[in-house]
Amino acid sequence: MPTSNFPNLTVLDHPLIQHKLSLLRDRDTSTRDFKQLVSEIAMLMAYEVTKDLPTEPVEVDTPLERMTGRQVAGKKLTLVPILRAGLGMVEGIAQLIPSARVGHIGLYRDHDTLKPIDYYFKIPAAEIERDFFILDPMLATGGSAVAAVGALKEAGARRIRFLCLVAAPEGVGRMLELHPEVPVFAAALDRQLNPQGYILPGLGDAGDRLFGTRTLA
Ligand code: PRP
Ligand code: URA
Repeated sequence: MPTSNFPNLTVLDHPLIQHKLSLLRDRDTSTRDFKQLVSEIAMLMAYEVTKDLPTEPVEVDTPLERMTGRQVAGKKLTLVPILRAGLGMVEGIAQLIPSARVGHIGLYRDHDTLKPIDYYFKIPAAEIERDFFILDPMLATGGSAVAAVGALKEAGARRIRFLCLVAAPEGVGRMLELHPEVPVFAAALDRQLNPQGYILPGLGDAGDRLFGTRTLA
């Protein structure tokens, strides 16, 4: 469902996505279930996000006769998780699209300034003509997303989509301002950020919940 305030944003309101997102938000959800849910939601989102991929005819011999089926045309996809939490979205999408390649962008938010600090970038040069899906469960201030898109563009990427589970209006607005041509797909558009830059109501610190490194009080 495109939203009127943000022409760059599509909220994927499929009932299964919404159901699993509510489980994910629950503070009592275990690390094991959290990991599983992130993966499942990412898979369901990928199904929706890829619905405009071009297809082409392909000849298939069934056990009974030859027929003309359809196959996805053109270049393969590259998934680009933002470390750490984006890693949780890779497996579910890769199950649906096993031919997808995976690049990595390492960024973390400075706790005081909330500005992204970059520490890793690995996208093979030969991949640059592909379609890129940047993956990160959280779009908060938008600093990390804007930096990741900027780094990919600098490397030559042109067709980029951003997939997140929970978006804040501040982050979507920042993407619209700085990378207006990059479509943003989210399972939810939440209300606002708190003074510490966490999304409300949100789901807490995605990386910590995914990897069991800390729990919010
Ligand atoms: C989280 C999240 C995003 C970023 C979003 O990562 O996974 O990358 O914050 O916030 P922003 O929109 O304000 O930039 P974090 O910085 O906590 O790093 P981590 O995954 O390594 O813990
Ligand atoms: N990063 C997270 O992991 N959670 C938030 O709510 C905001 C940024």
